[in-house]
Amino acid sequence: MTARILDGKALADRVRGEVALQADALRGQGVVPCLAVILVGSDPASSVYVRNKVAACEKAHIQSLRFDYPADVDPATVMARLEALNADDSVHGILVQLPLPPQFDEAAVLRAIRIDKDVDGFHAENVGRLSQGQPGFIPCTPYGVMKMLESENVPLSGAEVVVVGRSNIVGKPIAKLLTNAGATVTVCHSRTRDLAAHLRRADIVVAAVGKPRMITADMIRSGAVVIDVGINRIESGPDAGKLCGDVDFASVREVAALITPVPGGVGPMTITMLLANTVESAERRLAREPA
Ligand code: GUN
Repeated sequence: MTARILDGKALADRVRGEVALQADALRGQGVVPCLAVILVGSDPASSVYVRNKVAACEKAHIQSLRFDYPADVDPATVMARLEALNADDSVHGILVQLPLPPQFDEAAVLRAIRIDKDVDGFHAENVGRLSQGQPGFIPCTPYGVMKMLESENVPLSGAEVVVVGRSNIVGKPIAKLLTNAGATVTVCHSRTRDLAAHLRRADIVVAAVGKPRMITADMIRSGAVVIDVGINRIESGPDAGKLCGDVDFASVREVAALITPVPGGVGPMTITMLLANTVESAERRLAREPA
């Protein structure tokens, strides 16, 4: 079997087009959807992510505000900015790019964001709502993964799913979303004794560990759906400098039924769902307080 490739770029383009139309409709009603992005320090990866987020807003007809601070900024300065953004009715989404420098209490910063502007879905209240299956904001990467599975009509109810990775940003929330959708979910991680034995039972594998090509064909059941959230830069060898996922794409595509590539799989969906959450936030505000 050679797997069909799930084109995240094409799906992202489609969803972004829908988001732009929603943004236009809001403007027609006097509301300009707006996302505020805070970046502390100059970590190269974070700088690229923030630049891409701001550029994507513009293309989706969403206004963006960017606030940059030096790595040694006093956390009180950032907290004061968050308070001002919380109180500003023209701002619908607030995002603090992670990781933050060591002088910050990251959880406290995330808790300082108003829950109805927390478009990253990292506030403890939104995490709790997701756990209980209540409406709130869903973190963007897991939300993007769910959209991809939905776009392919992958059956989730009763499915055996193995999530590899237990991060707050991807592993834990995707496990909750899939559980809420009726899947039987196993979360594996660095302490798991026999990863391959778990993976071989899975109808759906979600890989989010950050280890280049660690999941190989011998670990995957024939006909499985494989979602690769990893984005790793290859250090040496003939492909040095190129990006790869946590899944060994070349071998796994020969046994899986459906597989996401890296790049061009889950990656483009993450920013797309940030845009969707921002527009959703503006729509909810308008419904609460008509312009
Ligand atoms: N750092 C890595 N991924 C993310 C993300 O999705 N949101 C934020 N705010 N920071 C991140």
